[in-house]
Amino acid sequence: MSHILLIVGGGIAAYKSCELIRLMRKAGHSVRCVLTEGGNHFVTPMTLAALSENQVFTTLWDLKDEAEMGHIQLSREADLVVVAPGTADLMARMANGHADDLATTLLLATDTPVLVAPAMNVRMWLHPATQRNVAQLRADGVEVMAPDEGVMACGEFGPGRLPEPPAILAAIEAKLTPAHRPLAGRHVLVTAGPTHEPIDPVRYIANRSSGRQGFAVAGALAALGARVTLVAGPVSLPTPPGVDRVNVETARDMAQAVAQALPADAAVMVAAVADWRVEAAGQKVKKDGAAAPALTLVENPDILATVAAAPDRPALVVGFAAETEHVIDHAVAKRLRKRADWIVANDVSGDVFGGDANHVHLVTADGVESWERMGKDAVARGLAQRIADALQARS
Ligand code: C5P
Repeated sequence: MSHILLIVGGGIAAYKSCELIRLMRKAGHSVRCVLTEGGNHFVTPMTLAALSENQVFTTLWDLKDEAEMGHIQLSREADLVVVAPGTADLMARMANGHADDLATTLLLATDTPVLVAPAMNVRMWLHPATQRNVAQLRADGVEVMAPDEGVMACGEFGPGRLPEPPAILAAIEAKLTPAHRPLAGRHVLVTAGPTHEPIDPVRYIANRSSGRQGFAVAGALAALGARVTLVAGPVSLPTPPGVDRVNVETARDMAQAVAQALPADAAVMVAAVADWRVEAAGQKVKKDGAAAPALTLVENPDILATVAAAPDRPALVVGFAAETEHVIDHAVAKRLRKRADWIVANDVSGDVFGGDANHVHLVTADGVESWERMGKDAVARGLAQRIADALQARS
């Protein structure tokens, strides 16, 4: 997962950094923002917090912020620091090693790569002082993008406009090392959520799956650079950034969407697919005083087993197993029966459905690995990294 620290400087182009945050999130990056005092005059912390879905930092002197996440840690945790817009003043202070506010202190304290997207008036950009500072920054290893040319907010014309957000995103992607995106160029198929099996046009059989673990897996895979197709049963969760979502309702719809999404390098079947559907769901079943109607159930296709036996089988097929007892034994048997490479077994006898945490065991041909109880996002990140390692080892 790529963590980007975005420093928003004080220029009118700061409004474009809002669009940049949206693009970065869509591309699967996590974004944390630092807003300079000048930037605060153009966009609000609330805007940046809402778009980044993260806390926004504005000052060095906040005891609470400092206690929760020290300012040094803030920049060191990032894979890349992006300064956009990089104003003439901010670049001058960076070039001279100032550390008189949060942004410059972070920039001086970090050994993380830094990318600056400059934005300023054309005369300011062309001024020898700015050109000297840009040359110094480049000599110091900072990547300073060339500004765009055109009409400026002040009415003048020339170089100094902030590069367009898609161009900044492209520069960001190019700067992130391949180590951050080990799944770049891979396609991974994920199923998630429950299925709904109609009894009649108004009623259905469902299960308690919230879809949260599967959605987290899809997001974690995208964050490692994969192209992810998420075939989702009926849940109202937001689509994780960078993920292509196909909504389905029944197991048969899901099987069809999965077949259409192949080929893939890996398939991770997290969905709680209904094992049975109701035969012939025609008109609404009426309560007409007679005996309660019997439901005749027929078996649904096993999507995991079908994918694992398909001629274009993904190199890695991963299933999930929700069990309430003999968790590991059942998972070991399931792996063999369904011809999956791995089964992620979880004990659902507690509050796993809809909850935040999960306690899983990874069952592979090499044995069983029990992970400690952790958040569903952490399980997803761990699994995504394992998938990246396995695909790398197999290619
Ligand atoms: O057999 P069981 O439902 O416990 O298997 C769980 C695993 O099989 C999960 O990975 C689930 O997504 C997958 N599965 C499936 N199609 C079914 C039933 C389960 O893909 N019809």
